[in-house]
Amino acid sequence: QMDRFVGDLLAKMTLDEKIGQLNLVAVGFDVTGPVVSQNVDENIRKGNVGGVFNTFTPIAARKLQELAVTGTRLQIPLLFGYDVIHGHRTIFPIPLGLSATWDMGLIEKSARIAAEEASADGLNWVFSPMVDIARDPRWGRIAEGAGEDTWYGSQVARAMVRGYQGEDLTKENTVMACVKHFALYGAAEAGRDYNTVDMSLLRMYQEFLPPYKAAIDAGAASVMTAFNEINGVPASANRWLLTELLREKWGFDGLVVTDYTAINELVPHGLGTEAEVGALALKAGADMDMVGEVFLKHLAQAVKSGAVSEAEIDQACRRVLEAKYKLGLFQDPYRYVDEQRAKETIMKQEYIEAARDIARESMVLLKNEKQTLPLKRSGTIALIGPLATSQRDMIGNWSGAGDWKLAVSVEQGIKQVAGNSVKVIYAKGANITDDKQMIERLNAHGGELQIDTRSSEQMIAEAVKVARGADVIVAVVGESQGMTGEAASRADITLPGQQQELLKALKKTGKPLVLVLMNGRPLALKWEDENADAILETWFGGTQAGNAIADMLFGVYNPSGKLTATFPVEVGQVPIYYSYKNTGRPFGGEQLDKYKSRYLDVPNEPLYPFGYGLSYTTFSYSQPQLSQHTMLPSETLEVSVEVRNTGNYDGEEVVQLYIQDLVGTVTRPVKELKNFQNISLKKGERKTVTFPITIDDLKFYNRDLEYVYEPGDFKVYIGTNSRDVQEAAFTLRENQ
Ligand code: IFM
Repeated sequence: QMDRFVGDLLAKMTLDEKIGQLNLVAVGFDVTGPVVSQNVDENIRKGNVGGVFNTFTPIAARKLQELAVTGTRLQIPLLFGYDVIHGHRTIFPIPLGLSATWDMGLIEKSARIAAEEASADGLNWVFSPMVDIARDPRWGRIAEGAGEDTWYGSQVARAMVRGYQGEDLTKENTVMACVKHFALYGAAEAGRDYNTVDMSLLRMYQEFLPPYKAAIDAGAASVMTAFNEINGVPASANRWLLTELLREKWGFDGLVVTDYTAINELVPHGLGTEAEVGALALKAGADMDMVGEVFLKHLAQAVKSGAVSEAEIDQACRRVLEAKYKLGLFQDPYRYVDEQRAKETIMKQEYIEAARDIARESMVLLKNEKQTLPLKRSGTIALIGPLATSQRDMIGNWSGAGDWKLAVSVEQGIKQVAGNSVKVIYAKGANITDDKQMIERLNAHGGELQIDTRSSEQMIAEAVKVARGADVIVAVVGESQGMTGEAASRADITLPGQQQELLKALKKTGKPLVLVLMNGRPLALKWEDENADAILETWFGGTQAGNAIADMLFGVYNPSGKLTATFPVEVGQVPIYYSYKNTGRPFGGEQLDKYKSRYLDVPNEPLYPFGYGLSYTTFSYSQPQLSQHTMLPSETLEVSVEVRNTGNYDGEEVVQLYIQDLVGTVTRPVKELKNFQNISLKKGERKTVTFPITIDDLKFYNRDLEYVYEPGDFKVYIGTNSRDVQEAAFTLRENQ
């Protein structure tokens, strides 16, 4: 039916009308790239636009949709896209935080709520999920993904797509997902945004491509190209990537949109003139040109000169029209434009409660000496730090239509949760940064950094005075939201500005020191780990962050989040990740042995490993028991472990299963996450957790890029994080 409808429509279209459908324009509600589209209304009327983004609300969307539907010859409706990244109006934790929940149900729920709100707000297309594997915390966009792990990132990718698209894309409360950034955007050299990527095919297949594939297999209807080059060919003009791999090998039949002006950027990449790169991008497999208008300006001429064929334009146009058909826009162009639904849906109480719950689940307890946390609901708290009263930072970067004025700060949260039972005294203590150039740059792009003009000595002295009058110090420190996200790479990933100096001065007071961290990337926290009594990682927790943080501090909720990206000791260790290869000279701790794969000055080990996160209670793990010690490919082996709550609180634990393939025709990582289970254990309770292991858990890509298993010896590791594990061994034998 779709084929016939779209075929009939295409047959009626002129070449210019077809090219118009390939043009995606940005309206200036938000600015998410270097330029903004001009003459949008006029271009819509002329039939020069297939979709718009960076605008929302039913009123704004209706106005533009009317221009397209009543003002153009064939009345083709527009797509309405937006960067709905971690919630639309109700904002959830940044994606790196969301991933730290290790709860696919909650992650899907956050995307579902975002879809409910976005679709009620005039939108039918979200530029999410970002599934780029990222192992370099210098890269600002590590905040927007699910961290470093391939298998885990694939689970998150699926959950997000399910949440956005639901079962039926034509429903008015579902939106089209857009998997980005295809591909390998997270592997930019030196963590600098937009930088070169050069990677072996084996590594791509094994470690970086699976999350994109998982999202596509889950039905994601669109894909966004990446800015970076891959092995010499920029992704947006990469025919191997966009056609041979994506469409021919993976069977993707949806829409491919470029990133913002990514076709124009093929010129500085060095691929040719604007006219030439337009043809290259189309021929490579890009269907829609985001903002750059290269297709609009040059494709008609390219058809005349024979650089592209009309059939190639038909194919791209067909995909745009099919996306509109799948969304039900031809049946009802105003399906997503319903003011009443917007009023009833946006920021419902139920969504606000979900935001608080999800934020709590995302927070990771990094340290807790002498049971400093949870705090008592009595006495005086010195609330110190540049992020203690901030509302703007709570909702994080890429928080689209979220209103930070509705966000709850830490100060507000503490007051709400603890009421009058505690006295809170406050001092800012330090600016987030004192780097004038950085402040200017961030503020020019909506950073809204509040800078105190007093000297840092004065600010620190005031904070110390406040701290002396308290029983405990809660220091809320970290990055501003604008220090992470796009074009926000940092070469120094310690606490910025004078914040560490502030902490050193606070430490000298001898009062218990609790750090509440807000940041969008793993930070290097060596001093903080050695000196703070407790550290709670809260990311940028969203609309309800302040309440959620207070819930954690006062023990209303027991932390259960686990890191999905390794925290290094020092920036010099990055890229750092748990699933590294052994090398021929692995370092096993022999201090005097020089010729090993190690540093002279820092350890190989991270500060906090992947999967790490404490609880107010403690858990013990038994030795894993295997159902059998040899396994045939057709069999399912079971591995069980008993987990016991050995502490003083009820708690939740993420039990993690890793596998190591000891010998292969290609080298294999020391460990790969293959499964996990969330369990709740009451104080003193024990539970047996059983994982099935099937042949799928043992497969990998060989030298010929075939997905295979190889008989031999394996180890299985179970534990509370990727470092602290118990092991067992088994052998895979070939079927008789
Ligand atoms: O969706 C984003 C993308 O992630 C980065 N460049 C801009 C796009 C649209 O805002």
